[in-house]
Amino acid sequence: MPDLRRKRLVLLATGGTIAGAQSETQAGRYTAGSLNADDLIAAVPGLAALADLSCEQVASVGSQNMTHAVWALLAARTTALLADPDIDGVVITHGTDTLEETAYFLSLALPWSKPVVLVGAMRPATAMSADGPANLYQAVALAATEIVARFGPVVLMNDEIHAAQGVQKMASSGVAAFASPNGARLGVVAGVQPIWAPHVAPALDAAFTPTAARFDVRQHPAHTWPRVEIVYSHADAQGDAVDEAAVRSQGIVLAGVGGGYATDALMAGMARAVARGVVVVRATRTGSGFVARNIEVDDDAMGFVAAGWLNPAKARILLMLCLLAGHPPQFIQDAFLRA
Ligand code: SIN
Repeated sequence: MPDLRRKRLVLLATGGTIAGAQSETQAGRYTAGSLNADDLIAAVPGLAALADLSCEQVASVGSQNMTHAVWALLAARTTALLADPDIDGVVITHGTDTLEETAYFLSLALPWSKPVVLVGAMRPATAMSADGPANLYQAVALAATEIVARFGPVVLMNDEIHAAQGVQKMASSGVAAFASPNGARLGVVAGVQPIWAPHVAPALDAAFTPTAARFDVRQHPAHTWPRVEIVYSHADAQGDAVDEAAVRSQGIVLAGVGGGYATDALMAGMARAVARGVVVVRATRTGSGFVARNIEVDDDAMGFVAAGWLNPAKARILLMLCLLAGHPPQFIQDAFLRA
Protein backbone atom coordinates (compact mmCIF):
# COMPACT_ATOMS: atom_id res chain seq x y z
CA MET A 1 0.00 0.00 0.00
CA PRO A 2 1.49 3.38 -0.94
CA ASP A 3 1.84 5.78 1.97
CA LEU A 4 -0.42 8.72 1.07
CA ARG A 5 0.35 11.09 3.94
CA ARG A 6 2.22 14.31 3.25
CA LYS A 7 5.92 13.59 2.99
CA ARG A 8 8.45 14.97 5.44
CA LEU A 9 11.77 15.68 3.79
CA VAL A 10 15.04 17.16 5.00
CA LEU A 11 17.22 19.33 2.77
CA LEU A 12 20.94 19.10 3.51
CA ALA A 13 22.74 22.05 1.93
CA THR A 14 26.44 21.91 1.05
CA GLY A 15 26.95 25.01 -1.14
CA GLY A 16 27.73 25.13 -4.86
CA THR A 17 26.47 27.31 -7.67
CA ILE A 18 22.89 26.48 -6.74
CA ALA A 19 23.60 28.63 -3.67
CA GLY A 20 25.84 31.04 -5.59
CA ALA A 21 25.33 34.80 -5.81
CA GLN A 22 26.54 36.92 -8.70
CA SER A 23 28.84 39.85 -8.14
CA GLU A 24 26.98 43.15 -8.34
CA THR A 25 30.05 44.94 -9.65
CA GLN A 26 31.84 42.43 -11.89
CA ALA A 27 29.71 41.02 -14.68
CA GLY A 28 29.91 37.25 -15.00
CA ARG A 29 31.61 36.66 -11.64
CA TYR A 30 29.94 34.84 -8.79
CA THR A 31 30.75 33.11 -5.52
CA ALA A 32 29.52 29.55 -4.98
CA GLY A 33 27.88 28.67 -1.67
CA SER A 34 26.94 32.25 -0.67
CA LEU A 35 23.28 31.55 0.12
CA ASN A 36 22.14 29.33 2.95
CA ALA A 37 19.57 26.54 2.91
CA ASP A 38 16.72 28.84 4.07
CA ASP A 39 17.48 31.26 1.20
CA LEU A 40 17.30 28.37 -1.27
CA ILE A 41 13.93 27.23 0.00
CA ALA A 42 12.58 30.79 0.10
CA ALA A 43 13.47 31.21 -3.59
CA VAL A 44 11.07 28.41 -4.56
CA PRO A 45 7.67 29.23 -3.02
CA GLY A 46 5.94 26.18 -4.56
CA LEU A 47 8.04 23.82 -2.45
CA ALA A 48 5.69 24.08 0.50
CA ALA A 49 2.94 22.50 -1.58
CA LEU A 50 5.08 19.45 -2.37
CA ALA A 51 6.21 18.33 1.09
CA ASP A 52 7.05 19.44 4.60
CA LEU A 53 10.63 20.49 4.23
CA SER A 54 13.14 21.30 6.95
CA CYS A 55 16.72 22.19 6.22
CA GLU A 56 20.20 21.88 7.64
CA GLN A 57 23.43 23.48 6.49
CA VAL A 58 26.10 20.76 6.35
CA ALA A 59 28.73 22.82 4.50
CA SER A 60 29.02 25.98 2.39
CA VAL A 61 31.64 25.16 -0.21
CA GLY A 62 32.16 25.32 -3.91
CA SER A 63 32.29 21.61 -4.64
CA GLN A 64 35.81 21.83 -6.07
CA ASN A 65 36.63 22.07 -2.36
CA MET A 66 34.51 19.09 -1.32
CA THR A 67 36.34 17.00 1.28
CA HIS A 68 36.18 13.53 2.77
CA ALA A 69 35.33 15.23 6.08
CA VAL A 70 32.13 16.67 4.55
CA TRP A 71 31.36 13.27 3.01
CA ALA A 72 31.69 11.68 6.44
CA LEU A 73 29.27 14.26 7.87
CA LEU A 74 26.82 13.70 5.01
CA ALA A 75 26.99 9.92 5.38
CA ALA A 76 26.40 10.08 9.14
CA ARG A 77 23.62 12.66 9.04
CA THR A 78 21.80 11.12 6.08
CA THR A 79 22.00 7.63 7.60
CA ALA A 80 20.46 8.97 10.82
CA LEU A 81 17.69 10.76 8.90
CA LEU A 82 16.88 7.67 6.84
CA ALA A 83 16.53 5.67 10.05
CA ASP A 84 14.09 8.22 11.50
CA PRO A 85 10.50 6.98 11.08
CA ASP A 86 9.33 10.62 10.89
CA ILE A 87 11.50 11.35 7.82
CA ASP A 88 10.55 10.15 4.35
CA GLY A 89 13.52 11.28 2.31
CA VAL A 90 16.53 13.56 1.92
CA VAL A 91 17.47 16.17 -0.69
CA ILE A 92 21.11 17.26 -0.89
CA THR A 93 22.04 20.49 -2.64
CA HIS A 94 25.59 20.42 -4.01
CA GLY A 95 27.94 22.10 -6.46
CA THR A 96 28.02 20.45 -9.83
CA ASP A 97 31.80 20.02 -10.15
CA THR A 98 32.04 17.00 -7.85
CA LEU A 99 28.34 16.17 -7.64
CA GLU A 100 28.90 12.81 -9.37
CA GLU A 101 31.60 11.88 -6.84
CA THR A 102 29.48 12.69 -3.78
CA ALA A 103 26.50 10.87 -5.31
CA TYR A 104 28.61 7.78 -5.99
CA PHE A 105 30.23 7.88 -2.55
CA LEU A 106 26.80 8.10 -0.91
CA SER A 107 25.46 5.28 -3.07
CA LEU A 108 28.13 3.08 -1.45
CA ALA A 109 28.01 4.54 2.06
CA LEU A 110 24.25 4.85 2.68
CA PRO A 111 21.55 2.25 3.08
CA TRP A 112 19.16 2.13 0.12
CA SER A 113 15.94 2.51 2.06
CA LYS A 114 14.27 5.89 1.39
CA PRO A 115 14.64 8.52 -1.35
CA VAL A 116 17.91 10.46 -1.50
CA VAL A 117 18.13 13.05 -4.31
CA LEU A 118 21.19 15.18 -5.03
CA VAL A 119 20.69 18.39 -6.97
CA GLY A 120 22.76 21.30 -8.21
CA ALA A 121 22.61 24.14 -10.70
CA MET A 122 24.84 25.37 -13.49
CA ARG A 123 23.78 29.01 -13.06
CA PRO A 124 24.02 30.95 -9.79
CA ALA A 125 20.85 31.62 -7.85
CA THR A 126 20.89 35.32 -8.75
CA ALA A 127 21.49 34.77 -12.50
CA MET A 128 18.93 35.64 -15.11
CA SER A 129 17.13 32.36 -15.81
CA ALA A 130 18.75 30.49 -12.92
CA ASP A 131 18.22 26.74 -13.21
CA GLY A 132 18.52 26.06 -9.48
CA PRO A 133 14.92 26.78 -8.44
CA ALA A 134 13.43 24.45 -11.07
CA ASN A 135 15.99 21.76 -10.28
CA LEU A 136 15.31 22.04 -6.55
CA TYR A 137 11.55 21.99 -7.11
CA GLN A 138 11.83 18.76 -9.13
CA ALA A 139 14.31 17.23 -6.68
CA VAL A 140 11.86 17.74 -3.83
CA ALA A 141 9.00 16.35 -5.92
CA LEU A 142 11.14 13.31 -6.74
CA ALA A 143 12.20 12.77 -3.13
CA ALA A 144 8.52 12.77 -2.18
CA THR A 145 7.96 9.66 -4.31
CA GLU A 146 8.73 6.42 -2.51
CA ILE A 147 9.68 4.57 -5.68
CA VAL A 148 12.93 6.42 -6.33
CA ALA A 149 14.43 4.80 -3.20
CA ARG A 150 15.08 1.58 -5.13
CA PHE A 151 17.72 3.32 -7.26
CA GLY A 152 19.76 4.49 -4.26
CA PRO A 153 20.92 8.12 -4.22
CA VAL A 154 20.08 9.72 -7.57
CA VAL A 155 21.00 12.99 -9.26
CA LEU A 156 18.37 15.38 -10.57
CA MET A 157 19.62 17.95 -13.08
CA ASN A 158 17.84 19.74 -15.92
CA ASP A 159 14.66 17.58 -15.75
CA GLU A 160 16.70 14.35 -15.83
CA ILE A 161 17.11 11.61 -13.22
CA HIS A 162 20.49 9.85 -13.22
CA ALA A 163 21.86 6.92 -11.22
CA ALA A 164 24.86 7.79 -9.04
CA GLN A 165 27.07 5.12 -10.63
CA GLY A 166 26.65 6.36 -14.18
CA VAL A 167 26.14 10.11 -13.95
CA GLN A 168 28.87 12.44 -15.12
CA LYS A 169 29.32 16.17 -15.58
CA MET A 170 30.10 16.30 -19.30
CA ALA A 171 30.47 20.03 -19.90
CA SER A 172 31.77 23.02 -18.01
CA SER A 173 28.90 25.26 -19.10
CA GLY A 174 25.26 25.06 -20.09
CA VAL A 175 22.33 23.69 -18.11
CA ALA A 176 22.40 20.35 -19.98
CA ALA A 177 25.82 19.48 -18.56
CA PHE A 178 24.96 16.09 -17.03
CA ALA A 179 24.52 12.71 -18.71
CA SER A 180 24.96 8.99 -18.06
CA PRO A 181 27.40 8.20 -20.88
CA ASN A 182 27.62 4.44 -20.29
CA GLY A 183 23.91 3.84 -20.21
CA ALA A 184 20.81 5.92 -20.12
CA ARG A 185 19.29 8.25 -17.60
CA LEU A 186 16.77 6.60 -15.28
CA GLY A 187 14.04 8.94 -16.43
CA VAL A 188 12.89 12.52 -16.58
CA VAL A 189 10.65 14.65 -14.41
CA ALA A 190 7.75 16.27 -16.24
CA GLY A 191 6.44 19.00 -13.96
CA VAL A 192 6.50 17.07 -10.69
CA GLN A 193 5.90 13.63 -12.20
CA PRO A 194 8.76 11.15 -12.74
CA ILE A 195 8.56 9.46 -16.14
CA TRP A 196 10.75 6.36 -16.00
CA ALA A 197 12.83 5.15 -18.92
CA PRO A 198 11.83 1.78 -20.45
CA HIS A 199 15.08 0.11 -19.35
CA VAL A 200 14.22 0.58 -15.65
CA ALA A 201 10.83 -1.15 -15.93
CA PRO A 202 12.13 -4.44 -14.42
CA ALA A 203 13.48 -2.56 -11.40
CA LEU A 204 10.17 -0.77 -10.96
CA ASP A 205 8.21 -4.02 -11.17
CA ALA A 206 10.40 -5.93 -8.71
CA ALA A 207 9.60 -5.99 -5.00
CA PHE A 208 11.76 -3.46 -3.17
CA THR A 209 13.82 -4.69 -0.23
CA PRO A 210 15.81 -1.97 1.55
CA THR A 211 19.50 -2.80 1.74
CA ALA A 212 22.23 -1.87 4.23
CA ALA A 213 25.14 0.36 3.20
CA ARG A 214 27.80 -1.52 1.21
CA PHE A 215 30.47 0.38 3.13
CA ASP A 216 29.53 1.83 6.51
CA VAL A 217 32.16 4.54 7.07
CA ARG A 218 30.70 5.95 10.27
CA GLN A 219 33.20 4.26 12.58
CA HIS A 220 36.13 5.56 10.50
CA PRO A 221 37.04 9.26 10.83
CA ALA A 222 37.76 10.80 7.43
CA HIS A 223 41.45 11.40 8.21
CA THR A 224 41.91 7.61 8.46
CA TRP A 225 40.54 6.90 4.98
CA PRO A 226 43.24 5.45 2.71
CA ARG A 227 44.87 7.82 0.27
CA VAL A 228 44.20 6.99 -3.37
CA GLU A 229 45.62 9.18 -6.13
CA ILE A 230 44.79 9.48 -9.81
CA VAL A 231 47.67 9.49 -12.31
CA TYR A 232 46.82 10.86 -15.76
CA SER A 233 48.28 9.17 -18.82
CA HIS A 234 49.36 11.19 -21.87
CA ALA A 235 51.85 11.02 -24.70
CA ASP A 236 55.40 10.54 -23.37
CA ALA A 237 54.18 10.09 -19.77
CA GLN A 238 57.03 9.07 -17.46
CA GLY A 239 56.95 6.57 -14.61
CA ASP A 240 58.19 8.93 -11.92
CA ALA A 241 54.68 10.41 -11.52
CA VAL A 242 53.56 6.96 -10.33
CA ASP A 243 56.68 6.45 -8.20
CA GLU A 244 55.96 9.69 -6.34
CA ALA A 245 52.30 8.81 -5.83
CA ALA A 246 53.21 5.30 -4.66
CA VAL A 247 55.29 6.67 -1.78
CA ARG A 248 52.33 8.42 -0.15
CA SER A 249 49.32 6.33 -1.28
CA GLN A 250 47.78 2.96 -0.66
CA GLY A 251 46.03 3.02 -4.00
CA ILE A 252 46.57 4.53 -7.47
CA VAL A 253 44.03 4.90 -10.25
CA LEU A 254 45.38 5.26 -13.76
CA ALA A 255 43.34 7.65 -15.89
CA GLY A 256 44.61 5.80 -18.92
CA VAL A 257 44.25 6.31 -22.64
CA GLY A 258 41.80 4.09 -24.52
CA GLY A 259 40.97 0.99 -22.51
CA GLY A 260 43.06 2.08 -19.51
CA TYR A 261 46.53 2.04 -21.06
CA ALA A 262 49.68 4.12 -20.72
CA THR A 263 53.23 4.45 -22.00
CA ASP A 264 55.60 1.59 -21.24
CA ALA A 265 57.32 3.92 -18.76
CA LEU A 266 54.09 4.62 -16.85
CA MET A 267 53.14 0.94 -16.94
CA ALA A 268 56.55 0.06 -15.48
CA GLY A 269 55.95 2.64 -12.74
CA MET A 270 52.61 1.01 -11.98
CA ALA A 271 54.29 -2.40 -11.76
CA ARG A 272 56.77 -0.92 -9.25
CA ALA A 273 53.83 0.47 -7.26
CA VAL A 274 52.19 -2.98 -7.13
CA ALA A 275 55.50 -4.43 -5.94
CA ARG A 276 55.39 -1.91 -3.05
CA GLY A 277 51.94 -3.18 -2.05
CA VAL A 278 49.97 -0.32 -3.64
CA VAL A 279 46.72 -1.41 -5.33
CA VAL A 280 46.63 -0.11 -8.92
CA VAL A 281 43.38 0.26 -10.85
CA ARG A 282 43.35 0.92 -14.60
CA ALA A 283 40.54 3.28 -15.69
CA THR A 284 40.01 5.28 -18.87
CA ARG A 285 40.31 9.03 -19.36
CA THR A 286 38.08 8.89 -22.47
CA GLY A 287 34.86 9.79 -20.63
CA SER A 288 32.97 6.58 -21.32
CA GLY A 289 33.37 2.90 -22.08
CA PHE A 290 34.45 -0.24 -20.20
CA VAL A 291 37.95 -1.13 -19.04
CA ALA A 292 38.27 -4.92 -19.28
CA ARG A 293 40.90 -7.24 -17.82
CA ASN A 294 43.68 -8.87 -19.80
CA ILE A 295 43.10 -7.34 -23.24
CA GLU A 296 46.27 -5.39 -24.15
CA VAL A 297 47.70 -5.66 -20.63
CA ASP A 298 48.24 -8.91 -18.75
CA ASP A 299 46.48 -7.82 -15.56
CA ASP A 300 46.84 -11.29 -14.05
CA ALA A 301 50.62 -11.13 -14.39
CA MET A 302 50.96 -7.44 -13.48
CA GLY A 303 48.60 -7.53 -10.50
CA PHE A 304 46.42 -4.69 -11.82
CA VAL A 305 42.69 -4.20 -11.25
CA ALA A 306 40.49 -3.16 -14.20
CA ALA A 307 38.00 -0.37 -13.46
CA GLY A 308 35.09 -1.75 -15.50
CA TRP A 309 32.51 0.98 -16.07
CA LEU A 310 33.78 3.45 -13.46
CA ASN A 311 35.48 6.66 -14.53
CA PRO A 312 38.74 7.55 -12.73
CA ALA A 313 37.10 9.81 -10.12
CA LYS A 314 34.59 7.13 -9.14
CA ALA A 315 37.20 4.36 -9.33
CA ARG A 316 39.17 6.35 -6.74
CA ILE A 317 36.18 6.27 -4.38
CA LEU A 318 35.47 2.55 -4.74
CA LEU A 319 39.14 1.70 -4.30
CA MET A 320 39.40 3.92 -1.22
CA LEU A 321 36.38 2.25 0.40
CA CYS A 322 37.59 -1.26 -0.49
CA LEU A 323 40.98 -0.46 1.08
CA LEU A 324 39.28 1.02 4.14
CA ALA A 325 37.33 -2.21 4.51
CA GLY A 326 40.55 -4.22 4.18
CA HIS A 327 39.48 -6.10 1.06
CA PRO A 328 42.15 -8.12 -0.82
CA PRO A 329 42.88 -7.38 -4.53
CA GLN A 330 40.75 -10.25 -5.87
CA PHE A 331 37.75 -8.99 -3.91
CA ILE A 332 38.50 -5.47 -5.14
CA GLN A 333 38.48 -6.66 -8.76
CA ASP A 334 35.10 -8.32 -8.21
CA ALA A 335 33.77 -5.11 -6.65
CA PHE A 336 34.77 -3.14 -9.76
CA LEU A 337 33.29 -5.64 -12.17
CA ARG A 338 29.99 -5.50 -10.25
CA ALA A 339 29.99 -1.68 -9.98
C1 SIN B 1 30.64 23.98 -7.60
O1 SIN B 1 30.78 22.84 -8.01
O2 SIN B 1 30.44 24.24 -6.41
C2 SIN B 1 30.72 25.14 -8.53
C3 SIN B 1 30.14 24.85 -9.85
C4 SIN B 1 28.68 24.51 -9.83
O3 SIN B 1 28.05 24.26 -8.82
O4 SIN B 1 28.12 24.48 -10.96
